[in-house]
Amino acid sequence: MKKVSLTGDRPTGPLHIGHYFGSLVSRKELENEYESFVMIADVQALTDHFKEPEKVRDNVMEVALDYLAFGLDPQKTTFFIQSKIPQIAELTVFFSNLVTINTLKRNPTVKDEITEKKDLFGAKGEKLTYGFLGYPVSQAADITIVRADVVPVGQDQLPMIELTREIAEKFHRIYKTQIFPLPQAKLSQAPRIMGLDGNAKMSKSLNNAIFLKDSPEEIKEKIKTAKTDSFSTASYDPKKRPEISNLLLIYGLIHSITPQEAAKEMGSVNYTSFKSKLAEDLIKFLEPVREKRKGLEKKSAEVMNILTEGTQKTLARAEETINLVKKAMKIDY
Ligand code: TRP
Repeated sequence: MKKVSLTGDRPTGPLHIGHYFGSLVSRKELENEYESFVMIADVQALTDHFKEPEKVRDNVMEVALDYLAFGLDPQKTTFFIQSKIPQIAELTVFFSNLVTINTLKRNPTVKDEITEKKDLFGAKGEKLTYGFLGYPVSQAADITIVRADVVPVGQDQLPMIELTREIAEKFHRIYKTQIFPLPQAKLSQAPRIMGLDGNAKMSKSLNNAIFLKDSPEEIKEKIKTAKTDSFSTASYDPKKRPEISNLLLIYGLIHSITPQEAAKEMGSVNYTSFKSKLAEDLIKFLEPVREKRKGLEKKSAEVMNILTEGTQKTLARAEETINLVKKAMKIDY
């Protein structure tokens, strides 16, 4: 039997080139090796977008379109929407007894996010919600409900997987059972792409991302206005010259060469020429995804169908897990 892999994305915007190289490429490889689940984490997205339900709703479809346009294969990968699996919510409640508030408060990823989201959670975190502080518990339930062995993610998700292992072990110890594999993170090997404005993250809200669905005009404009520095030609020095190094990294990734090699190739031309070549090549690189997406957008019923089928399959597995859990906890009335 194949081992099980589960990963997911919050539907807060369409996927960008950071997702392309950071997660989609490796998910494509894992499709054959693992029984793969990919979850659209709408419930988790609501923990910091609870005031914007339309945004989350719209982006569920955007993200699904991006997965399929990229070429993840619904015959091999099971796609599902988190909120359609009520067993995840049940398991979250059961797990919440096994996690201390202190552990949650120490989670470095959550801490960073709280600092970033001052508008929502207050300058000193005084408006922090129970839901947001607790989302790692819900994420542990996402992973364990399908009894995943591996979780392909980026570095920032390691604390969540560590917590998942702790919860699973504690559950086994207290309820004298063995239900969950202790999941291992499978770290993405791709270097992280920064925002085009030099921000550490590409994101829709910062308007510094190149989306898989961007039109050629949008790509041209974004690359043209991407931040560089006061030099006129490129060299790769991510510490001292982060913005231009980031553009070299992108150039390298789409040509399967290292950023150092990209610097050799592009270091002798001025920024304007480098940027127009980069834009042109990116447009070409993303063309198959863009074209496939256009076709899929016209068949949204078919895309919805893929999500529904994936959900059915996930529900069957979640039902098995929750029955074992309830039996172990003596609430199997
Ligand atoms: N927290 C992840 C992110 O922000 C998304 C996610 C939710 C996830 N549930 C998951 C990732 C379970 C891996 C496994 O990107």
